[in-house]
Amino acid sequence: MTQLKPILSHLDPIIPSSTGKFKSPPPYAFHRLRFHPRLTLWSFLFLFFLLLFVICSPPAASPGGKRRSLQTTGHSRLPANWEAKARNSARPVSKSGLTVLVTGAAGFVGSHAALALKNRGDGVVGLDNFNTYYETGLKKARKTLLDRQGVYIIDADINDAVLLGKLFEIVRFSHVMHLAAQAGVRYAMQNPSSYIHSNVNGFVTLLEACKNSNPQPAIVWASSSSVYGLNSKVPFSEKDRTDQPASLYAATKKAGEEIAHSYNHIYGLSITGLRFFTVYGPWGRPDMAYYFFTKDILRGKEIKIFEGADHATVARDFTYIDDVVKGCLSALDTAKKSTGSGGKKAGPAQLRVYNLGNTSPVPVSKLVSILEKLLKVKAKKKLLPMPRNGDVVFTHANITLARKELGYKPTTDLETGLKKFVKWYISYYGSKKKSAW
Ligand SMILES: NC(=O)c1ccc[n+]([C@@H]2O[C@H](COP(=O)([O-])OP(=O)(O)OC[C@H]3O[C@@H](n4cnc5c(N)ncnc54)[C@H](O)[C@@H]3O)[C@@H](O)[C@H]2O)c1
Ligand SMILES: *[C@@H]1O[C@H](CO)[C@@H](O)[C@H](O)[C@H]1NC(C)=O
Repeated sequence: MTQLKPILSHLDPIIPSSTGKFKSPPPYAFHRLRFHPRLTLWSFLFLFFLLLFVICSPPAASPGGKRRSLQTTGHSRLPANWEAKARNSARPVSKSGLTVLVTGAAGFVGSHAALALKNRGDGVVGLDNFNTYYETGLKKARKTLLDRQGVYIIDADINDAVLLGKLFEIVRFSHVMHLAAQAGVRYAMQNPSSYIHSNVNGFVTLLEACKNSNPQPAIVWASSSSVYGLNSKVPFSEKDRTDQPASLYAATKKAGEEIAHSYNHIYGLSITGLRFFTVYGPWGRPDMAYYFFTKDILRGKEIKIFEGADHATVARDFTYIDDVVKGCLSALDTAKKSTGSGGKKAGPAQLRVYNLGNTSPVPVSKLVSILEKLLKVKAKKKLLPMPRNGDVVFTHANITLARKELGYKPTTDLETGLKKFVKWYISYYGSKKKSAW
């Protein structure tokens, strides 16, 4: 509340005085009167520019509207037989198998989740726009891996409403595992709109397709531990406040949770949000510390280790990819059906949110010493105060709820998990070098 005060007091004079709500004028009534002429001028200018904007901007794309074809520009990337490929890929081995759309399937968690589903006999279709946020070579290599297992990834953006509509017509998905997003905390200072594009607009476009679909699939999607923001109470539990995001990334994930609430409420979509805590492992994300530390240590490059205020250690609740994937699968398996169909709600639907962490935060200095041991190279370390770029000092998950309701039980400690990561890293980049030269 204390944070709201200055904003409210700033807004007060703008509240129109014509409501007649107050018997006696509040003390700031004079200010209000004084501000009025100026306000009128500003509102006039505002309306003028709004009108100008509306007149000058092209007509909004609407499904079924004239600009429909423009929305599908991404289709030029798709092979002519993409529909047949999607249908094939979607076929579960057994009758009881799920049919799952995995968005972000060329990504770190998405590729692992898609493979795990396929391996147990579910039908899986992937979707990913292969954006260049990090090396696309890695995304393509993951795609090759999935291709071999019979998982087809559609090269498209989740903002492509027409394509999604078509896809949901072709395949009756029982579930959507939504992992496509603009990830990373620091990049938001460089490219803020990419977060809105994928995590807000993209999520809404996907939910629209889900709610229009018949039957409506159940949705499981990745939120983030970053929604706990500046919370200092640890461990973080689902009931704690999440209204103090420290980054735009966190703010868009929090927005996603609220958007999920409204789609659940209005359309009866069954939605489960999973708050991941620093997921790591083979085929991981190059923008994350464990990954670029490995790269830099091997190259003899200095690594920066950040400290909190007063030399407080920065620590993360590192969670191994296989543990997270198990959590994703049981979230899908325990999801109840959506209640609506074709855009109409038939009754209340399930809405859940769970922490998927490891419950043992490890200081970054410890991460580095494990890597030094595994790589057999001494790191050149530089200690620096943490810049204010959206990173939080500490994360620690309370996973009681996920344990109880999903049977979630992480079993991999950081040293064991990093050993697997390093083994993969050396074979991936080692063999790439050999084939390149
Ligand atoms: N890895 C973590 O530690 C972590 C922690 C918390 C939350 N998450 C969340 O988990 C999910 C998966 O993360 P990840 O680590 O696998 O990241 P990732 O970047 O490897 O995977 C995301 C994939 O989504 C794709 N994508 C992005 N925008 C898209 C769009 N508009 N249309 C289609 N595809 C798009 C990207 O090309 C990428 O392949 C994300 O939602 C992320 O925010 C991850
Ligand atoms: C963890 O969360 C559960 C609810 O899910 C709560 O009952 C418990 O008190 C929390 N534990 C701690 C240590 O905060």
